[in-house]
Order: sequence, then C-alpha cells, then structure tokens
Amino acid sequence: MSTVTILPGDGIGPEIVHQAMRVLDAVNTSMNLGITTEEHVFGGAAYDKHGDPLPDVTLNACRNSDAILLGAVGGPVYDKAPRDLRPERGLLRLRAELDLFANLRPAMLFPELADASSLKAELVAGLDMMIVRELTSGLYFGQPRGIEIRDGVRTGFNTMVYSEPEIERIAIRAFEIAMQRGKRLCSVDKMNVLEVSELWREVVERVGQSYPEVELSHMYVDNAAMQLVRAPKQFDVMVTGNIFGDILSDAAAMLTGSIGMLPSASLDSEGKGMYEPIHGSAPDIAGQGIANPLATILSVSMMLRYSLNKAAAADAIDAAVSKVLKDGLRCKDIANDAAANEIKIVNTDEMGNAVLSALNNAS
Ligand code: IPM
Ligand code: MG
Repeated sequence: MSTVTILPGDGIGPEIVHQAMRVLDAVNTSMNLGITTEEHVFGGAAYDKHGDPLPDVTLNACRNSDAILLGAVGGPVYDKAPRDLRPERGLLRLRAELDLFANLRPAMLFPELADASSLKAELVAGLDMMIVRELTSGLYFGQPRGIEIRDGVRTGFNTMVYSEPEIERIAIRAFEIAMQRGKRLCSVDKMNVLEVSELWREVVERVGQSYPEVELSHMYVDNAAMQLVRAPKQFDVMVTGNIFGDILSDAAAMLTGSIGMLPSASLDSEGKGMYEPIHGSAPDIAGQGIANPLATILSVSMMLRYSLNKAAAADAIDAAVSKVLKDGLRCKDIANDAAANEIKIVNTDEMGNAVLSALNNAS
C-alpha cells in the first residue's frame, strides 16, 4: 500500500492533474498497485480558501504520504498578496519542510518532436541530459534577506549560502546519477567571483574522489548558459545550486522544444519525492482545456519509478505516451510541425483519452 498526495494547484494545474490522475487510476486498477490518493489544496487555490498557500492539513498530508503529485502554482492574480503568502512561497516552504533537496530535471528530446526545438535539429537530435539542482538552500533560502532602509535608501538583499554538508549531499546524488548514465558530471558555479562557489567546487572535487569512474568537469554559470544553446549535447549530468539551476533548467527544457513534455522529481534523502511538470501554471491558457497534460502524465511515471517502486507501471505509461506521439497526436504547444506532417492537434481531454486507450490496448 502506498499513499500519494495530489496537489492540483493553480492555472492549468487542475486540468493537467485531472488527466494524470486518470492515467494513475488506470494503472493502479489494471496492475493492482494498491495506491490510494488524497487531494489537497495548495498554492493560490489554498490562499483563496484558507489564507495560506500551504495550510497545515496539506502539509501534514504531504508528510504522511509516500509521494506527491503537483500540477503547478502561481499566477498574476497573486502578485499583490502579502509576500509570505504568495503561492511560490508555499512551494518553497513545502520543499524545505520535506527536505526535498535534490531536484532532478531531465531535458531530453523526444525523437518525434525534433522539429519543435528553437535550435537546429542537428544540434539537439538525441539530446538527453539531466540537471541536478540543489533545491532547499542557496540564494532562495539564505539569511539575512529582506528589504530595508540603509542610510535613507531602500535596499533589497538576499544571501547566497551553502554549507559543506549541503554541497556534499547534492554532489553525492549527482555522482550517483552520473554513474547510472553516461558517467560525465559537469558542476556549474561562479567560482571566479563568489566565495560560496569556491567552497562548492572544493567539496564537489572531494566527493568526486569516491567516484573515479565519473569524468568531472567544472564550468562557470555564464559559460554554461552559452554552452547550453551552443552545443547542448556535450552534457550528460549537470549539478548546480538553487538559483543557477532554476535558470539553466528552463533554458535546457526549451532546447527540447518540449517544455510541455518534461517531468521532474524533487527527492529527499529517503526516496520520498514530489513530482511535477517542469512548466508553470500557464495562466494565459488556463481554463481553455488546451494545456498539454503529457509532462504531468510522465511525472506520474517518474513517481512510480523513483518513489513507489513500480517500474512496470512506469514503463507502460512511457510506452503509451510514445505511442500517442508516434500516432501524430499533439497539443498546441508541441505542434510546430503541424503543417508539414500528418499531425492531429488535440485538446487536454483528448490527449488524456489517447494515452488511456494506448494503455488499454497494450495490456
Ligand atoms: C521552478 C519555479 C520555482 C522556482 C518558482 C515557482 C518558485 O521557477 O520550480 O523552477 O524558482 O524554483
Ligand atoms: Mg524555474
């Protein structure tokens, strides 16, 4: 028996999570997985209802479950909410409260979608990299932080901070992942300017001594941004801190032209994890029923694989998603090649239906 907490969130969150739940229910029943789910409000939806983006009942449910499936949070309507009560703060608190320090963000190109990238197809064909982003420290959480008056001038400030144990545990996670992949790890920092990066590099080097098979390299973050758009296939696994990882992972996701396709995992040290699509709440298309549910459906697959130990179910979902792509089904966001090929543009619900029927036909 395992329990999954479902957090639909805001914007397109509820629409895409609904489709992902249908897929989860289908494998749960057909493969007898014994998973129970419990839905809770989170983010802006929770702020509207309880005046808090992360109410205690939601936090406790997350604590007591084996995994969490999240849609997306946030939206411009909450820009005016008190800073500490904005949906994003709820997300940051949840990551911190559950100690979800290891954020795995794959950027891979689905062969069917090679033309959807903004880069030339030959630069991205076969791209398959993983960004390992530290998620519970760094600039996002460092103290002191705030806005205050200094010598009569309003001044905003944050602190970028990493302790040795924090660097060590994310480095270990990244080396372990590199061992299971191409055995190449690039650590990204700003060592030429920041003391925090000096320590980062030193600790990553030290951890690396226990992984002699992994080829370790270091790159400054500005160069890494350039290399990602110049020659992204040079990367296998990239490990970096919270803010650099936030920025680089958006760039990497877009390289694939598939931001609506990519799942992610945020893991603690014991394997519990929160799974969510890489993309945001897309308030501009919310409520229209056109959002692409595939990243969320693939997040379910990642959850089954990494936190719930149900690899066969995960494989079945991955195969069903490949099948619908091969059949030419596309939501609008990945339909760049619609004019050229035999492509059928579908809405959120139709995409969910197609994945379900691919699952049924395979079993
Ligand atoms: C992400 C998002 C979040 C972050 C926001 C919504 C707080 O951009 O998960 O990358 O910055 O970590
Ligand atoms: Mg981000």
